[in-house]
Amino acid sequence: MISFSWIVLAVSGLSLSAASSFSDDASLVSRAPDPCAAIAGQKWVAPKDARACFKSIQVDQTLKTNILDVVNKTLAFHTSVNYQIQAPAPFNNDVHEDLLKDLARIKSQRYASDYDLHIDLSRTLKRLNDGHCVWINRCFDSFYTNFLPIPLVLLTEKDGSQNVHIAPEAFDVATAEFPDQIDVWQNALPFGLKGNLKALNGAKVLLINGRPPFDAVNANALITGSFQSFGTRQNSFFSSYNRAATGWNYIMGNFAQQSLPLDDNVLLTIVRSGKILPETFVLPYRSRISATAVPFTDKASFLAGNCKAVAGTNGADVNAASALSIDPAERPLAKVQQQPPISAQDARKHMVNVFMDAAPLSNVVLPPGLQPALPAVNGSRTVAQFYMLKDGKTGALALGSFSDNSFTGLQNSLLNGLLSLKSQGATQLVVDVSNNGGGFICIAHWLHRIIIGPKDTTVPQAGLDTKTRAGPLAQLIVKQITEQNLDPQGQLVFNPIQWRNASNVFFAAGQDWLQPPVELTINGRSDAFSQRIGQECQPESFGIPPDTALFAPDKVVIVSNGRRVVSLKCASSCSLFSITMAKEEGVKTVVLGGKKDTKQEYCGTVGGQSTDFSTMDTEIKTAQLKDNALAPPDLLVNGVQGITWRLGFGIQNKEEPEEWQDHPADLNLPLTLSNVNNPVAIWEDLASRFFS
Ligand SMILES: *[C@@H]1O[C@H](CO)[C@@H](O)[C@H](O)[C@H]1NC(C)=O
Ligand SMILES: *[C@@H]1O[C@H](CO)[C@@H](O)[C@H](O)[C@H]1NC(C)=O
Ligand SMILES: *[C@@H]1O[C@H](CO)[C@@H](O)[C@H](O)[C@H]1NC(C)=O
Repeated sequence: MISFSWIVLAVSGLSLSAASSFSDDASLVSRAPDPCAAIAGQKWVAPKDARACFKSIQVDQTLKTNILDVVNKTLAFHTSVNYQIQAPAPFNNDVHEDLLKDLARIKSQRYASDYDLHIDLSRTLKRLNDGHCVWINRCFDSFYTNFLPIPLVLLTEKDGSQNVHIAPEAFDVATAEFPDQIDVWQNALPFGLKGNLKALNGAKVLLINGRPPFDAVNANALITGSFQSFGTRQNSFFSSYNRAATGWNYIMGNFAQQSLPLDDNVLLTIVRSGKILPETFVLPYRSRISATAVPFTDKASFLAGNCKAVAGTNGADVNAASALSIDPAERPLAKVQQQPPISAQDARKHMVNVFMDAAPLSNVVLPPGLQPALPAVNGSRTVAQFYMLKDGKTGALALGSFSDNSFTGLQNSLLNGLLSLKSQGATQLVVDVSNNGGGFICIAHWLHRIIIGPKDTTVPQAGLDTKTRAGPLAQLIVKQITEQNLDPQGQLVFNPIQWRNASNVFFAAGQDWLQPPVELTINGRSDAFSQRIGQECQPESFGIPPDTALFAPDKVVIVSNGRRVVSLKCASSCSLFSITMAKEEGVKTVVLGGKKDTKQEYCGTVGGQSTDFSTMDTEIKTAQLKDNALAPPDLLVNGVQGITWRLGFGIQNKEEPEEWQDHPADLNLPLTLSNVNNPVAIWEDLASRFFS
């Protein structure tokens, strides 16, 4: 089976200047010196220079038509197009995007440059606030990443009030990550602060660009995308942490990291710790070129090297002798997924549900002083680290992803780690899924099953039933591959042998499982879906779980602070885990440091199974349907379009998708100067609040 994923685009940033009008005179632009040549060969550039290069690229009508055609026709496989026209309460104010209407608008709109077109298209998809359905053009997104050396945090003061602060660890993070740029910022500070960036650590932020900080936070929440809930998108502005495969990472947040060169500088008014008088200064953003950028010398070589379709952009007929086999880790899709690379074998065998992001996985390091100093307990491996807290009773599992380069390795690690904690006397458990972007669906089910033990909520499955969309092209694919036996090895997601019906019985090989489709009217539009799909994990994708619970549900708390980059939530498979644990087992959920008067949801976008255009293209090509008028053409640019291919049904309202049902957190944990971005301090705080 091929893998899939979701996308979360976090093209972050403060700037609200979206795709704009077409003021300029194209002939003037083309006669000017080449702005891409001006920045060629430089690692760090001023955002305005990066923008000038991007904006010098005129819209190519052939490419524009191609992109819109691919996006539009791929969306026929996205389960949620009609649901997202108007989500029900409590997300009615968050999700109300009519994609097809906006694509039609974009088709007829003129743009000053290809960059302006990209911003409009990208933000249109991001208005879904669905990290699985995102358009990423790697020609622009995170080609240059815009940084400030002062990530922000939202802290709760002793009197209960909340203020935005410069992260107390900001200088440590910045000096470690930007050794070749820190002087530029040091020297940009005004007299009195010049050379003393460190003095800003922990400072209270009174104004951002002359306005109260939450003006900037809320403006960012409107364009950052990925998460339905407004609170989660507010939290994206601030820094956070994540357990990655190779170590502890620091997530800068949308203020200090933008995936496009949106803003040139920020005007800040702050009060330093221990001072009384406010100080105001300007700090420039600096744009760093992507480590994977193909070097260029001018606009033509920038476009040729970085903007055209690459191996894996499009799908391939799995039966064609010429079908290139591409390492899943090398697929463009993998580069935008919020999970560590997974092996080819596991990518084929195990479904994933993962966010995508315009920003690559962070490799900024959580300062050593904030990393857990406790020894990792036996069983710890890559994204899954186990610790015994000093109280001798509380175990902690930091789970940064549901993906790993080995499915079985991660599965064993989760069981062994929990057993090790128990053998050391742990009777209670904190599971920290901060910035967990999802991963293997069956690992989420496995973790739920081994913690909770066998019962009606975990056997046969700890997950959700799902459905896929059964549009006309999807129906044709299934008809073709079943009638003509085009997928004998079971590599396609539309192959009936992959799925079980609502009674958890596998479909027969050759069974046209999309017939008859389930017809529904959603937001006034006719739509069609598959029959209900039952459990997908047990026993094939399971090891042998223990036959008793490892922890009592009231002795487990799940803390989430977000997926990568977009913070303060967990996403995708992570949501599947948190939701079933919370709604079925009554496990308590915690969100880190959200704004007090904003409702905090404990999970991000639910989905069910994510995938992308290239995967659908493989299905279409293998089914010999590429010439069908409904089939998207091959994509000509270096882009990825993500979709939700299966949507999970609800736990409380079983006939409606879980995606738009409520997930209120039990606790919004206040962050302070002493626990912010400090995992062990947070876990200790939670242990004393929930278990004492
Ligand atoms: C998108 O596809 C629909 C058919 O599903 C078509 O009516 C519409 O014109 C297409 N829009 C664009 C922008 O190509
Ligand atoms: C940890 O695992 C190793 C081998 O996997 C084993 O030799 C060792 O005894 C274990 N230690 C503890 C404390 O369980
Ligand atoms: C699932 O398939 C089995 C075997 O064909 C059948 O007996 C059962 O009724 C099906 N369940 C549903 C819900 O369609």
